[in-house]
Formats: sequence, structure tokens, C-alpha cells
Amino acid sequence: ITSGDYVHRRPSGAPSIQLSRLSTGVISRQDSLENVISKDEVTLKRHLGLFSGVCFIVGIIIGSGIFVSPKGVLRGTESVGLCLIIWVAAGLVSLLGALCYAEIGALIPRNGAEIAYMKEGIGSVHERVGEILAYLFVWTSACILKPASIAVLTLTFSQYFLSGIFLDCGVSENVVKMTAILAILVLMNINSISVSVANRLNIIFVICKVVTIVTVIIIGIIRMAQGHVENLKTGFEGTTTKPLNVALAFYSGLWAYDGWNCLNSITEEVKNPKRNLWLSIVLALPSVIILYLLTNISYFTVMNKATLLSSTAVAVTWGEVALGPVVRVLPILISISALGSGNGSLFSSARYCMVGAQYGYLPEVFACIHKRKLTPVPGIVLQGVIAIGLCLPSNIDGLIDFFSFSAWIFYGITFSATLCCKFTMKNAERVISVPIPLIIIIILISIYLVVAPVIAAPQLGFLLASLFILFGLVFYYPFVYRKMEINFIINHLLVADIEFIGAKLIFLMLIR
Ligand code: ARG
Repeated sequence: ITSGDYVHRRPSGAPSIQLSRLSTGVISRQDSLENVISKDEVTLKRHLGLFSGVCFIVGIIIGSGIFVSPKGVLRGTESVGLCLIIWVAAGLVSLLGALCYAEIGALIPRNGAEIAYMKEGIGSVHERVGEILAYLFVWTSACILKPASIAVLTLTFSQYFLSGIFLDCGVSENVVKMTAILAILVLMNINSISVSVANRLNIIFVICKVVTIVTVIIIGIIRMAQGHVENLKTGFEGTTTKPLNVALAFYSGLWAYDGWNCLNSITEEVKNPKRNLWLSIVLALPSVIILYLLTNISYFTVMNKATLLSSTAVAVTWGEVALGPVVRVLPILISISALGSGNGSLFSSARYCMVGAQYGYLPEVFACIHKRKLTPVPGIVLQGVIAIGLCLPSNIDGLIDFFSFSAWIFYGITFSATLCCKFTMKNAERVISVPIPLIIIIILISIYLVVAPVIAAPQLGFLLASLFILFGLVFYYPFVYRKMEINFIINHLLVADIEFIGAKLIFLMLIR
């Protein structure tokens, strides 16, 4: 692939940018972006209908969480009853969040969800604040947030896959990391080659994971019919008395539901987005809530609180009792589920990079898509490479905490954007309208979710995450506010370097 295979594109509302030295080949340096687009209109296609939309959401949401998070939820709640309530509550919070996104998504139907919503929604109240928030989101999500989720999912894939194959012999941590890295490379390839292959693969993954979950549920129902309900009968016995711990339980549950906003990030690839966006959300999320609740009930038909808390892989411990010798297939199915979610996450995160670059918040090479394959290859490579880097320390729990903390800061800001639009775009036609009190409630929940874990279990990770987000401002001033060209600076540094090395070589040759 040469640079001639790429073309820039920009959404109708995004700021105009000049092409730089990086885009050589068919696009000459002097051409303005407008010329390129009118000469050679290349856009991502609208290829997702209602069914693919629902599969896309379910495919990202159901990943590793439902198989590993139950432990975190129970640890925070300490009773079966509250644990099940938190699973439903986390689902309802996600559903409410997704409905706020659906409302603003129909008003501002652009790829890159939060970026456009903050820039235009909050920007409609105060332009500069909207821009800074949108920029900070791009900075955080491209550099660390999205790659962190890809790293967690591929590491989980590799752990379960290897433990399914080498059942009784332990696998070394390095092998787990190498397999995760290999998986990322394969996903990068698939996503670069074709949108429809990635999409078809996603549908296969979704079928696999839904079959796995439904099997767990059916076996749970059979066990309940056989009278294994003693753990469920313990109800609210031993419920935690610390409300802050409930926030930590929520974190585990919300990780399992995360991905509810993914379809918004590719709105421009959805057919008839005004109808299909909110309908996909309304069909997908309640189905996932029901599946998750029943799966947890099924876990409790096999394990009591103590067994669940001491298990390293809840679903596998469940399988040892419920499935007997067939348990071997379970880790493999779970690994496929995590890999599928990783595939969808890479798909959407590459689009975030593309939109971020189109707005001028990332170097513009990331705004390019491949002319024939119509895939955002530079964005895919960036996300894949950072995810590979994050796989190396292989700290899954740390990455999940970091992810949830940072993600809820930006979800909260995006809900505020929906609220702003209620006043600034009063007369716009709305296909769905969330009542203002509900938006205020979800904003308050976001604040609680960000603040409570910091107070309940202060960790260095939360401080580092906040510092990292704010550190983005260092680049905001020169590259976005002053609009200095990063390529121009890099080229000058390179030229200066080459001249320096050249002078050194000549000097060495002379003294020889
Ligand atoms: N809910 C998924 C899981 O249970 C994780 C989704 C990660 N989020 C994302 N936006 N890719 O594993």
C-alpha cells in the first residue's frame, strides 16, 4: 500500500484543513481538501442496517465482562440479592445513557459520537469550551482509552483460549502476552482489508457468544427446576453497609455493559440513522440486561458466595460443576466472545481517530481512508500499536479501572451536551427525547461513578488518569488553538537532524 492509495475525507461540519507533506501521491501538496473530495468522492459506505446495528452493539457489549465481572459485583455488594439488583441497575444506567446518546446522535448524525456532540452540543453554549472538551476526549480516547479496552479484551481472549487448550498445565504470562499481541495483529489485518469481512466476522462472533450465554441460562433453569435454589434463597443476607463499595461493584457491572455507545461512533455508516440508531439501542440493551440477569442467576444455582469470590474464572468454575467433562469448550467459547468484542472495539476506535483527525485534533494522516478498501488504515494501525504496548504490563484489572474512570468522565460530559442541546436546539426535530430530569439523574450518576471509587479505594491509577487527561492541554495550545502544523514541525526537526548527522559524518571522514 502506498500513500497514493489514501484519500482524506472530512464530515460536512468539520473544520477545513490543508493537506500536508504526508499526503503525497495522487493528492498534491497544494490541493485543498475540498478539491480532493470533489475530484474523487470517497466516503465510508452506509452498510449497517437494523440487524447489523443490533449485532454490532451486542457484539461489543458481550465480551469478557459477563464471564469475569460477577466476582467484582459480588465483592462490592456482599449479598446475592443486591448483586442481582446491581446487574439490572447497571444495565438500566447504560440504557439511559444510550438513550441520551440516541437523542443527540439523531440531532448531530456524525461519526465519532462524543467528539461531534461535545464540539457542537456544548459548543452551542460556549464554542471554546466545546472544542477543548472534544479535543481532550480525542486525546484520551485515541492515546489510551480505546486501546486499553482492546488490550483488556485480547488479553482475556488469550488467557481463556490458552487455558482451554492446555487445561491442566499452567501457561506462562509471556505466552499469554504474545498470543494477545498476535490476536491484535490479526484483527488489525482483518479490519484493514475490508469493512464487510470485519462486519461478517462480527455477526459470527455474536452468534457464538449468544449461543454460549443461552446455554448457560438453559442449564441454570434446569438446575433451578431440580431444586438448586439454596444460594438464591440467601437473598440480601450479609449486604454491604458501605455505600461507596457499591460504586466499585457498579464499575465491574458497567464494564460488562460497556460498548452501549458504539453504534453512535459510526452513525455515518448506518443506513437510515434517524430510525435505525435508536431502534438498535432499544432492541439491543434490554436483551442484554435480560441475558446478563439470567446468566448470573444460573451462576448462583451452582456456586455460593464463597465459591464465587474465590474463583479465578467464574464461568469456568460454574462449568466444572454444571457441564462436567464438557467444561473444556467453555474457555474457548469465552475467548471467542472476548475476541469478537475486541474486533468491534478496534473497528469503532479507528473511526474515532479518523474523525478526531478530521477535526484537526490528531495529525491529519489519521483522517485518511484507503481508497479502494474504504477502511481507515492509519487509525487502525495507531490503535493496534498502542494496544500492543498496553498488553505488555498485562494488568487487566488496572486497565479496567482506568478505563471505567476515564470513560465515565467523558460520558458525563456528553450527557451534559445532550442537556445543552435541549435549550440551544429547541426546535430541531427529535426522533427520541429523554426528559430533562432523567438527563440530570444520569449526569449525577456519572459524577458519583467518578468520585466514589476515588474516595472508597484511592489508587495511584486514578490520579495518573486525571493527569494524563489534563496533560493533553499541553498539545492543545500549539497544535489546535494556534493551528501549528505537526508535519511541518516534524519535517523541520528531521531535516535539522539529518543535517546534523551529515555534518558529523563529513567531519569524521575529514579527520580520518
Ligand atoms: N462490555 C465488554 C466486555 O464485557 C467490554 C467493552 C469495551 N468497551 C468498548 N468500548 N470497546 O468485555
